[in-house]
Amino acid sequence: MILIKLGGSVITDKKEYKRFNKEVVSRLCREIKDSEKDVMIVHGAGSFGHVLAKEFELQKGRIRDDQTDAVARVSRDVRELNNLIIKELIDAGIPAVSIPTGACFIMNDNELHIDPKVMQMYISIGIVPVMFGDVVTDTKKGFGICSGDRIIKCLADIFSPDKIIFVSDIDGIYDRDPKISRDAKLIAEVNEEILEQIPSEMTVDDVTGGVHAKMRTMLDMCSDSRDCILVNGTVDGRLNSLLKGMDVVCTRARK
Ligand code: IPE
Repeated sequence: MILIKLGGSVITDKKEYKRFNKEVVSRLCREIKDSEKDVMIVHGAGSFGHVLAKEFELQKGRIRDDQTDAVARVSRDVRELNNLIIKELIDAGIPAVSIPTGACFIMNDNELHIDPKVMQMYISIGIVPVMFGDVVTDTKKGFGICSGDRIIKCLADIFSPDKIIFVSDIDGIYDRDPKISRDAKLIAEVNEEILEQIPSEMTVDDVTGGVHAKMRTMLDMCSDSRDCILVNGTVDGRLNSLLKGMDVVCTRARK
């Protein structure tokens, strides 16, 4: 099984509140279907989640009264995005069912624990469960933000996928910020040592950490028998080629 995270930067325009990238998502869903691989899908929140979550500091848990309304709004918005994605998946021929993180699971001081039974049942009847970055209740902090990457980590521990693919809007990890430095080089394979040398300010401005944090998560999950890959989903056919096992432009995490 291949675990895929559709990142918020590719499924939405992160700069504009609730801007859905319909064409890109529709194509990515067709690319997944065409690969004929068994997949589980998680998606991020992009501008359906990060904008309000950041404004109201929801990642800090309950710290002020005006957050309650924001919790409800973020929860509504990410479900709206999830519905749009489920629609594209079904239109592409993938029988997908939503498993809303905040409605199904609770965090304990930021730690997510997933009971896999529901997902196992869906998988056993040929359905693809889809989870997403969400605002989730927290036994210690009242609530918190659970990123898609954290869900991926949890699912990887439970379902032992052969491969984990993070679909983003960049070709991979660069040695310098490509937006500032013209001669920034793409790193085909990242390990702990290389990651240490990559400037950590090269993170995007969101509440769940950006590219650096993602690479850390990827390094935690990869092994000799499991590839963890960051790929650019804005390029036509790249995800499809990767799913089919071809060599594509990307960054792989290596222990
Ligand atoms: C964030 O999830 C969830 C909320 C802000 C509610 P992610 O961190 O996985 O989202 P992206 O992929 O970065 O947009």
